[in-house]
Amino acid sequence: MRNKIVASLLLAIAWAVQLNAQISESEIEKKIDAVISKLSLEEKVSLCHAQSKFSSAGVPRLGIPELWMSDGPHGVRAEVNWDDWGYANWTNDSITAFPALTCLAATFNPELSFEYGNALGEEARYRRKDVILGPGVNIYRTPLNGRNFEYLGEDPFLSSVMVVPYINGVQKNGVAACVKHFALNNQETWRGNINVEVSDRALYEIYLPAFKAAVTKGKVWSIMGSYNQFRGQYCCHNDLLINKILKGEWKFDGAVITDWGGAHDTKQAALNGTDIEMGTWTDGLTVSQKFAYNDYFLAGPFFESIKNGSIDEKVLNDKVRRILRLMFRTNMNSYKSLGCKNTIEHHVVARKIATEGIVLLKNNNNFFPINPDKKLSIAVIGENATRQTTIGGGSSDLKAQYEISVLDGLKKRYKNATITYSLGYASGLPDYGHEIPSLLDADSLIRAACDIASKADIVLFVGGLNKNHFQDCEGADRLQFGLPFNQNKLMSELKKANNNIGVVLISGNAIEMPWIQDANAIIQAWYLGSDAGYAIADIISGYANPSGKLPFTFPVKLNDNAASSFGKLSYPGDSINQYYKEGILVGYRWHDTKKIKPLFSFGFGLSYTNFTISEIKTDKKEYALGEKIIISCKLTNTGNLDGAEVVQVYIGKQKSKVERALKELKGFKKLYLKKGESKTIEIPLEVNNLAYYDETISDWQIEKGDYEISVGNSSDNITQKLKIAVK
Ligand code: GLC
Repeated sequence: MRNKIVASLLLAIAWAVQLNAQISESEIEKKIDAVISKLSLEEKVSLCHAQSKFSSAGVPRLGIPELWMSDGPHGVRAEVNWDDWGYANWTNDSITAFPALTCLAATFNPELSFEYGNALGEEARYRRKDVILGPGVNIYRTPLNGRNFEYLGEDPFLSSVMVVPYINGVQKNGVAACVKHFALNNQETWRGNINVEVSDRALYEIYLPAFKAAVTKGKVWSIMGSYNQFRGQYCCHNDLLINKILKGEWKFDGAVITDWGGAHDTKQAALNGTDIEMGTWTDGLTVSQKFAYNDYFLAGPFFESIKNGSIDEKVLNDKVRRILRLMFRTNMNSYKSLGCKNTIEHHVVARKIATEGIVLLKNNNNFFPINPDKKLSIAVIGENATRQTTIGGGSSDLKAQYEISVLDGLKKRYKNATITYSLGYASGLPDYGHEIPSLLDADSLIRAACDIASKADIVLFVGGLNKNHFQDCEGADRLQFGLPFNQNKLMSELKKANNNIGVVLISGNAIEMPWIQDANAIIQAWYLGSDAGYAIADIISGYANPSGKLPFTFPVKLNDNAASSFGKLSYPGDSINQYYKEGILVGYRWHDTKKIKPLFSFGFGLSYTNFTISEIKTDKKEYALGEKIIISCKLTNTGNLDGAEVVQVYIGKQKSKVERALKELKGFKKLYLKKGESKTIEIPLEVNNLAYYDETISDWQIEKGDYEISVGNSSDNITQKLKIAVK
């Protein structure tokens, strides 16, 4: 018996060492040197471009495997055909669909980010994918951007804090994260060519920080260049973005992968930092020239340029080093995990993030939670109560093993209630690249919905956007800021039929709410993945107390949004150029500074309990450069339910020699407290994080003098302001 225990102990130790061991970086460099010296010119060039829709070549002669990539940020996409965008219709590639990244951002919980990345990395490894094409961290500049649902919101600090643990989680499994889309891809309209003009200050302070954090803190192993242009050069081969900033200033040692079809020129791709060219010869998603791989810019033409000496072979060698480094970290990493998919643990992670990301926006007379034990009649109205939202949306489309709809979740939870359902409104099927309107008659849908609403105690309207073209979907932006598919009319008719209405919005973008007075309560639920219905039922029934906070502002009307307020040249541009005229004043920075009251503010979210923040203080009054500022405060749960609150710390400088936002998020902490419980917390900030980008010296600069610290639980709900000085 004793021997058995010893043997199993030794095995456990060996296993633990194996799991946590990683080949050292210096060993990898030695291996790269050994391999490079054996490669022919053809073999080197073959590594720099696609060999299929989602793979680039290995070197069979030397036993170097192909490099397999897969979308996307919210789960591992179903297997795609070798040469075209069609699905291979495998029967073993269904996966766990995790909540959209807006939901993850709304949790304001970096620990969940790590769990997200780790679970996704395990599923990618199990599906034998070496690079997962996510996360996306483009800043939310306009509520019309079709892909905001795939990103982490409007604030560079929140995005920077949330992206790092996600990358660590993915890469822990020997799978590369591929942070995208680098950079300034903040809309889908004309995404393939639009040339973005933006000030250095806004570039460095708003649009780059999340990418910089991914590289310098997250040590991300690959980055995806974006389709658009910046200052006249395509971002997939942009000298300033890739050579000077990414590989120069940030010392990125990984591989730059183009977006699919993002490369346009051999010399530029060679000299401006493209390492792997993917998806060329497609005009996005419809036309692909078969077996065009040898015609890629970094294929035949690149090979010829090196042979005839017009491009130096050392340019190629740098690419090969980076690609081999990516391989030794992933498909040639003998310590990579085995992976797994569709496990209970992964669904627990997905549901936890979904539940924690849901935001309670309005709750008059404690409409929510609705007691699941009471004998109630609940009329559930709206297509989003039964619609699958894990499919569609473009490249983040998923084949989930299952998806619990809102209606299913509610039926399971409310066993004592009488639940009726009516579609209420209808959209077409999610079809990439064009809209298929519903053939159902809108008025008859409304009549049917009002009929069941009039007979119920409570009405739950489940609406919002969806993953169709012109909605929350890649390839096009939204055509309107208001709800589509006749939902506003439905809402006003429902109000006449029954006064007791709660609204559940499922979307990845802000929307206009002309009916806000008619809604007793409003929940902002995101695309919540496989267990969506359970997460929403958790919140509606009070089984879970909402703790999500908005990662982006909800303007009252579209022109209150900064990008839109500057007109067409600012958004969406004139099809050739566009100008980010709002500069650094994006999101709440705009609303605060220009005193434009939003419908709901960045960082806002209600709870079923109440919290107070008190005893707010800083550890000192004066700070030197390089020092830490410690903000401490006491958080108390004064209600009669356990819950969680996010204490947010914003900093502004009133007297400044440059334009400033009124305040900017520089720290936050989420805390779970039992009812009646109090806890003192510390939120550390860096004085260096107060720097602004000084265009006169093309570098960061910290202004001395007084700063104002604002502490609260939302950007528009500040409990107390403090003054500090930087000497
Ligand atoms: C798409 C997307 C990108 C995706 C890639 C592969 O066009 O822009 O996010 O990863 O192509 O599907």
